[in-house]
Amino acid sequence: MSKKRFAFVGTGGRAISFIEPLVTTYRDTNELVAICDLSPARMAYYNGMLAGEWGYHAVPAYPAAKFDDMIRNEKPDTVFVCSIDSTHHDYIVRALHAGCDVITEKPLTIDAAKCRAILEAQRATGRRVRVAFNYRWAPFRTKVKELITTGVIGQVRSVNLEYLLDTNHGADYFRRWHSHAADSGTLLVHKSTHHFDLVNWWLDAIPAQVFAYGDLVFYGRKNAEARGDGPLTKYPRYTGYPEAKNDPFYLDLDESEPFRKLYRAGEADSGYIRDQNVFRDGIDIPDQMSLNVRYRTGEVLTYSLVCFSPREGMRVTFNGDRGRIEYHEFIGTHMNRAVRPKDFKLDEKPGAEAEGEWIKVFPHFKNSYLVPVPAQSGAHGGADEILNRSFYAADAPATDPWHRFAGHEQGAASILVGIAGVESIKRNQPVNLDDLVALSPQARKLSELV
Ligand SMILES: NC(=O)c1ccc[n+]([C@@H]2O[C@H](COP(=O)([O-])OP(=O)(O)OC[C@H]3O[C@@H](n4cnc5c(N)ncnc54)[C@H](O)[C@@H]3O)[C@@H](O)[C@H]2O)c1
Repeated sequence: MSKKRFAFVGTGGRAISFIEPLVTTYRDTNELVAICDLSPARMAYYNGMLAGEWGYHAVPAYPAAKFDDMIRNEKPDTVFVCSIDSTHHDYIVRALHAGCDVITEKPLTIDAAKCRAILEAQRATGRRVRVAFNYRWAPFRTKVKELITTGVIGQVRSVNLEYLLDTNHGADYFRRWHSHAADSGTLLVHKSTHHFDLVNWWLDAIPAQVFAYGDLVFYGRKNAEARGDGPLTKYPRYTGYPEAKNDPFYLDLDESEPFRKLYRAGEADSGYIRDQNVFRDGIDIPDQMSLNVRYRTGEVLTYSLVCFSPREGMRVTFNGDRGRIEYHEFIGTHMNRAVRPKDFKLDEKPGAEAEGEWIKVFPHFKNSYLVPVPAQSGAHGGADEILNRSFYAADAPATDPWHRFAGHEQGAASILVGIAGVESIKRNQPVNLDDLVALSPQARKLSELV
C-alpha cells in the first residue's frame, strides 16, 4: 500500500503536535513530503528535528511564495494548514484547486468573504476539508456529548458557557499576531471557535443569530496607564530588556531551544516578534466579550470570554426539560512553548492550580450525581493524541459514533458565530448568520452539515 503524502504549511509552534506523530508513530503508512513557511529559519528548525531527534530525514522546505510549486513538485495527497489564521483560506483554496484534500487548524478562516471562498472551492472541487477541532476529542468533553445525546436531561433548551483565559495563556495572545483582528479575526474567532464548535456539536444544533458586546479593558497601553501600571508599558518587548525582568508578563525568548530557534532566529527573515509588550499601542481586539446565540432549533447560548483572569478554565451548564448538567473544567494553565508532545507540562503559576474536571447531573425530582470520567493526561486534555490517530492511523474508523469529524460546513458554523459577534459589536445589533454565509438552509442539525 502506498503511503499517504502530507505537506505542511505553517511551521510555528503548533505544527509540532502533528508532524512529530506523523514521522514517528505513523510513519509506516504516512509520509511527510514537504514543509512551507514564511520563515526559512523556522523550517530549518523543523528539518533539524526531522533529521535529528525524530530519526526521519530533512524534507524540501518551500518559502511561502512557492506554495504552488511545492504542490506541483511534491504531489501531496493532503495539505495540512498550520499557518496564522488570516492565511488559512488562501492555502485551503489553492490546495483544493490543485487536487489535494485539506486538514486545517481551527479557525477555518477569519471572515465571511474568506469563508465563502473556501465553501465555493470545496463545491467546485469536491475535495475533503477537515477542521482540527481537538476540543471535541478530549474524553471528558466526549462524555458530555454522550450524556446529552442519550437524553439524560431531556431536550436541552439553553446553555451557559463561561470561558476564562488567564494572565499566562490569555496574555500570550496579546504578545503576538492574535492581537490584530486582521490576523486572527479577534479571539471571538481565533479562540472562541473551539467553544462555539463544542456547543454546536454538543447540542447538534446550527447557530442562527448572534448579539454581542466586546471591549478592550485590560491589555493595551491606555488601560495599563489608567490602572497605574504605566511602568509596565516602558519597553516594546520583553526579551533583551533587563528592566522587564520583574514584570509578571515577562517572557524570555532565550529561555529554551524551541523559542530561540523558532522565534528568535526567525525574527530577521519574517519580522515576527513573539514577545511584544501586552501593554503597547496598536492592539485592536477586545479582551472581554459576551454574547447570546439563538440556534435554528430554538436553543439559546449565553457565552462569555475574559482574557485576563487569575485562573484558566471553563464552566458550562446545560438546562434540559428533564434536568440540568453542570460541567467544570479547570485543568491548569499552559501557554504554547512549541515543545514536543512528550515534553508538554502545565505551567506553575500562583492561583492556576489544576482542579480537574467534573460533570454533575441534576435530574428533575431525583438526587444529583457525579459522572465518572477516566483520568486524562497530555496536551489539550489528551485530545491531540486521539485526534492524530484519527488523521493518520491506517485502521482509524471512517465514521465515529460521536460525530467528532468536522468538515468545512461545521467549521463554518463555528467561526460564523464569532464573525457575527464581531459584526454585532460593530453595529450594536443582532446579526443573522445566514446573511453572512448561507449554510444549507433546510438543515436543522449540525450533523446534517458536512
Ligand atoms: N487547536 C489548538 O489547540 C491550537 C493551538 C495552537 C495553535 N493553533 C492554530 O495553529 C495555527 C498556528 O498557530 P501557532 O501557535 O503555531 O502560531 P505560531 O505563531 O507559532 O506560528 C505561525 C506560523 O505561521 C507562519 N506564517 C505566517 N504567515 C504565513 C504565510 N503567509 N504563509 C505561510 N506561513 C505563514 C509563521 O511564519 C509561523 O511559522 C493557527 O491557525 C492557530 O489557530 C491551534
